[in-house]
Amino acid sequence: MNMIELKQVSRRYGAVQALAPLDFSVKQGEFVTLLGPSGSGKTTLLNVIAGMVNPSSGQIFVRGVDITKAPPSARGLGMVFQNYALMPHMTVFDNIAFPLRVRKMPKDEIARKVKDVLDMVRLPDIAQRKPKELSGGQQQRVSLARCIVYNPALILLDEPLGALDKKLREQMQLEIRRLHAELGITMLNVTHDQDEALSMSDRIVLMNEGRVEQIATPDELYRSPRTAFAASFIGTANLISGTVEHHAGERALVSTSLGMLRAAATACTASRGESVTLLVRPESVRMGPASDSPTGDGADGLRHAGTLEDSIMLGSVVRHHVRLTGGMQMVVQQQDSRRRPAPERGAPVLLDWAPEDCQMILQD
Ligand SMILES: Nc1ncnc2c1ncn2[C@@H]1O[C@H](COP(=O)(O)OP(=O)(O)OP(=O)(O)O)[C@@H](O)[C@H]1O
Ligand SMILES: [Mg+2]
Repeated sequence: MNMIELKQVSRRYGAVQALAPLDFSVKQGEFVTLLGPSGSGKTTLLNVIAGMVNPSSGQIFVRGVDITKAPPSARGLGMVFQNYALMPHMTVFDNIAFPLRVRKMPKDEIARKVKDVLDMVRLPDIAQRKPKELSGGQQQRVSLARCIVYNPALILLDEPLGALDKKLREQMQLEIRRLHAELGITMLNVTHDQDEALSMSDRIVLMNEGRVEQIATPDELYRSPRTAFAASFIGTANLISGTVEHHAGERALVSTSLGMLRAAATACTASRGESVTLLVRPESVRMGPASDSPTGDGADGLRHAGTLEDSIMLGSVVRHHVRLTGGMQMVVQQQDSRRRPAPERGAPVLLDWAPEDCQMILQD
């Protein structure tokens, strides 16, 4: 069953089309992330669902009921904001109790619920403090607690972790995932952080300029991006533009500045003469010293000569920047290995990749 369903929902601000008419749904119990660059319409979409912004067109359904015209309070949704939005003059206890008091719950039941929910976000001892006596991460947990305390069926999160440092953010990501799994609450999260989207989501809605670019699982989005925009927004992408020379079934031959390249064409239907983009992920590129004899094992038989400009150590992997002879820069990622040291900076190198790791996708 769909928890949320949007049909042709759009929003215009004067001349700005903040959201083009879009359709999508979130299933019950799912964790879906709205991901996209600044200004792509993520907050607008979340606010339209929450009832804080009226859509210019379209309909919104929650559990099959049309709530397009319902006020925010009647939608039964919880919302966690980026800036915590805790009430500064109230204690943590009162902040969390607030939505329950509004609902006229008996006092002892409120006390029990607040205690439970503070245990759940692992802050059992801070009920009597004020928000300003807490760290950013603790305030974030309190806003989450205030949201889950009244058991909403759906929680909307607008960049809730944006203000936290990397370590705390990763910890909170795990925490939110744990609560999601334990409580079975449907969650719709907004972020512009691709790592957060990849690690937390069942599905990602990738947005670009008010449109939905692609809706897919993290794995699909990384492995089979539909467009060059999607390929470069998720992970690092080597993009090579070219023209289709031949396309049959799931294989294509594409004419590029690097020569005629073989490519996998599973998701792209472009035919002869059309402009396309080829995607090769950094971890799929093999790099060897220029003295290596060509291997040709499953490759195009083409090896691309270049110069190693830079190598960056990223823990267990090393990222190399290679300038090819024609001027194009490619990113190569390899496991760090003491047994197979990388060539020196400035050394001539040869790159190649397997045709199945070179994907033909739509040009933007
Ligand atoms: N109240 C408003 N009045 C006019 N234009 C607005 C308003 N709210 C948003 N916009 C415009 O709508 C577009 C989408 O804005 P939105 O806040 O949804 O983006 P976002 O994806 O959340 O970006 P960010 O990552 O920066 O938060 C932007 O061009 C923005 O300037
Ligand atoms: Mg926003």
